[in-house]
Parts: sequence; C-alpha cells; structure tokens
Amino acid sequence: MNKDRKLIIAGNWKMNKTVAEALDLVNGLKRELAAVKEVDIVVCPPFTALDAVSKAVLDSNIRLGAQNMSEHNVGAFTGEIAAVMLKEFSVRYVILGHSERRQYQHESDALIARKAACAHVAALKPIVCVGESLAEREGNLTEKVLETQVRGSLAGLTKEQMEETVIAYEPVWAIGTGKTATTAQAQAAHAFIRSVLAKMFDEATAKQVRIQYGGSVKPTNARELMEQPDVDGALVGGASLEVRSFTDIIKNSI
Ligand code: PGA
Repeated sequence: MNKDRKLIIAGNWKMNKTVAEALDLVNGLKRELAAVKEVDIVVCPPFTALDAVSKAVLDSNIRLGAQNMSEHNVGAFTGEIAAVMLKEFSVRYVILGHSERRQYQHESDALIARKAACAHVAALKPIVCVGESLAEREGNLTEKVLETQVRGSLAGLTKEQMEETVIAYEPVWAIGTGKTATTAQAQAAHAFIRSVLAKMFDEATAKQVRIQYGGSVKPTNARELMEQPDVDGALVGGASLEVRSFTDIIKNSI
C-alpha cells in the first residue's frame, strides 16, 4: 500500500497478560513480523509487563507503548506513573484518553491535553483517542463530538508536537463489540478529524498526522480499512492478544 504517511498499527493489550503470557505473545510477534518494514508496529502491554517486553523487543522492529500515564511529572500521586518512568523502559508511545478511561475514570478532554503536553516534554508520542457513542452517532452528533474532543484533547500543542502525535478514531460502539464502522464511515470520520486539524494548525500539519482506526479491527477487515485515504493504521484491542490475528492484521494491511 502506498501512502505518504507510514502506517502505524498498535496493539492495546488492556488489562490482559501476565509477564509470562506477555513474553509468549511478544516473542511470537517478533518471529512472525521480523521482516516487516512498511508498518510501524507498536505493542502496549500493561505497566507490569513493560520491563520484560521492553527487553524482549530490543533490537527488533517492534516499539513499545504504554496505556496511560499521569498528567504530573513527580510527587504525591499514589498509584500514578510519570512519563519519565515510562522512558526508563524505552517506551516510545502512550495511549491517552482511551474511551474506557474517559468512561470509567471520567477523563476529560482538558486532562488528556495536559497528559499529552507532559508526554511531549518527555519525548513520548501520544496516541490520543477520540470517538462518538452510539447515541451520539444516532443523534447526528458525530462531527460535533469529534470536533470537541479533538480541539479539547490536543489544545495547546505546537505544530511540531502535533506532527509527533497519533490520533486514534475509535467509535465507542465498535470497541469490543464485533461491530466495525463501514469503510465509508471510517473514512468520513478520519477526513473530518483531519479537517479539524487543518483549522487548528494548518493544512501541512494536518497532512502529516497519522490517524488510526480502532474498533473490532480483525484480519478480515484490516485491508479495506487501511485502503481508505485518511486511515493511517489501527489501534487493535481483542485481536492484538494472539500472535496469529495481530500478525495477520499487519500482513494484510501492507
Ligand atoms: P477492539 O478494541 O479491537 O477489541 O474493539 C480496540 C480498542 O479499544 O483500542
């Protein structure tokens, strides 16, 4: 597939995998994906497996991501993890504002923007998630919700920081449900998000930013999604937990 922007496919392992299970998975991925150069491959294990997975992916084409981080750099924040602590494990990416955190931890756009700023200070690339609920889609509010989330969660970033930020468009109704957005729905949302970026920054910056699709991505639908002009990769949950399915998603996307 020939696009100006390099595809980035990330596995969001969520709260799955002990250290031993994480090593099994990542070692399998290393074996299967060693020859892939066309795609940036990222795995996002839980914090407890970062150390082991970090050592396992040294000298490989697999990059490491975390699933969340604090909006503070240091101090009395029990249970939180700072960007510099992630850097110690060679983490390059961090998922911010996943819909599960927006829903269960009540993360706001403003909080996500503060986290994104912290990530950039530590030279971590944020993967900022946005997406509408089913009620919002059915109420014709998709564009309004996406514009609010994109403007709010990326507020204050410089153009240079924006170019180093990945956006994941994840319609909430498609996450873990087996329902995927149609290719037309995905393309329309991605093009809309890019148009918002052009208004916030400029056309050139908007063209640089990679926008992933997420929500029930599988080996069977990956290719048609990646063929859409504004879809630059995938954020994969369930299907990233097995060597075969994650490998097939990547190979089918090339
Ligand atoms: P899913 O999850 O692939 O299991 O739908 C995607 C995500 O939540 O990032």
